[in-house]
Amino acid sequence: MPRRDTAAYLNAVRQIGDPVLRMAAQPVTTFDAALKELEARMIEAMYVNDGVGLAAPQIGVSLSIFVMDCDGVEATVINPKLTIIDPTDVTESEGCLSVLGVRRDRTRAARAKVEGVDVRGRLVVVEAEGYAARCLQHEFDHLQGRLFIDPV
Ligand code: NI
Repeated sequence: MPRRDTAAYLNAVRQIGDPVLRMAAQPVTTFDAALKELEARMIEAMYVNDGVGLAAPQIGVSLSIFVMDCDGVEATVINPKLTIIDPTDVTESEGCLSVLGVRRDRTRAARAKVEGVDVRGRLVVVEAEGYAARCLQHEFDHLQGRLFIDPV
């Protein structure tokens, strides 16, 4: 299969102002080859753009799925539910591939957990603290139509 060129991927990440970033992503109900292809596209778009996480709306697909490779935590989570484990505020600089050129302090919970499924429908549970916990919350927010620059 021919490799897609890098420029196409850079252009593929939707930027703030695109309505798809503000929609609540729809639950995934069909676990088929197309879903695996979507996961592969998302992982490649994340790596090509030096991201640590990517949600499907960022490539224009309003489905509830995110990928991450953040601080040693590598996962694909579909239909995630977020639980805050430790609500202690942690404020750190944060950025987003859909808000290029902007880094801003953002307060997040210290420890969080997501529960969902993978592309085969198998249970996935990711619990994290620190930077990975920040990633979980950031990607989960994308699926609700929220961006890190929004008021907390
Ligand atoms: Ni983002």
